[in-house]
Amino acid sequence: MTATIALITGANKGIGFETARRLGARGITVLAGARDEARGIEAERALRADLGPGAEARFVPLDVTDAKSAQEAAGWIEREYGHLDILVNNAGIAVRGGPPSETGLDAMREVYETNVFGVIMVTNAMLPLLRRAPAARIVNVSSEVGSITSVTDPASPLAQMPAGLAYPSSKSALNMITAMYARELRDTPVKVNAANPGYTATDLNRHSGFRSAAEGAEASVHLATLGPDGPSGILWGHLWTAGGPADAYGSLPW
Ligand SMILES: NC(=O)c1ccc[n+]([C@@H]2O[C@H](COP(=O)([O-])OP(=O)(O)OC[C@H]3O[C@@H](n4cnc5c(N)ncnc54)[C@H](OP(=O)(O)O)[C@@H]3O)[C@@H](O)[C@H]2O)c1
Repeated sequence: MTATIALITGANKGIGFETARRLGARGITVLAGARDEARGIEAERALRADLGPGAEARFVPLDVTDAKSAQEAAGWIEREYGHLDILVNNAGIAVRGGPPSETGLDAMREVYETNVFGVIMVTNAMLPLLRRAPAARIVNVSSEVGSITSVTDPASPLAQMPAGLAYPSSKSALNMITAMYARELRDTPVKVNAANPGYTATDLNRHSGFRSAAEGAEASVHLATLGPDGPSGILWGHLWTAGGPADAYGSLPW
């Protein structure tokens, strides 16, 4: 039987590492993308130790803002495996840009390079390999803060958060990017969805989130392993509502 191959970008820590760990636990070969070699090697070691013998976890050098790096990663995967079944575009950054009136274009460009342009670059580099898989899955790790409907709903806890520009708008752009890839690929077996991890304690938010990284990985794992009848072109994951259950999941409005 041919192994199922998954590439997770930004897999050396946080939600990406947990996504790799959980996909590996299902017997999927996990390729842990990391931009820093030492951190990538350490993630590979930790994944192998955790998953035990028989599991395949390998570090792939991949800086999502570097076209050459994305092409080299695709070339390596092609030589090693010939195809790719799952791409989780997980790598992301947030900057402390302040309110919209104080946000500079440098902060906007920095966040968009990773959260928006990086996803497009990696997806386009990997698509030839994904099209060779019998039923590929692309998961773009987005956020509820990119859901314009949610953040403008006065009843949502998200409406109480301070106004920021770079990170939320990058995830809104990622949501539309997800919808458009899903539309382009709708007559193929490839499914493209956006994941909402929920507010998760990681380095990204200096561990202010109330969910664990393992819980944050839940949405990515679910969308990466959808069956043939699963949806394409949706935003799915943790549902944060005032007074609602802490572990509710489902589709979010764009
Ligand atoms: N935490 C939350 O509450 C939350 C909520 C919704 C969505 N998300 C999203 O979840 C994803 C994972 O975030 P996280 O919370 O797990 O944050 P994290 O712990 O800071 O992890 C971010 C990962 O992305 C990597 N990365 C950043 N820039 C990269 C680049 N240019 N090339 C390759 N890798 C790069 C980081 O690598 P280095 O170690 O080298 O920096 C790290 O592995 C992000 O897309 C984030 O926006 C997070």
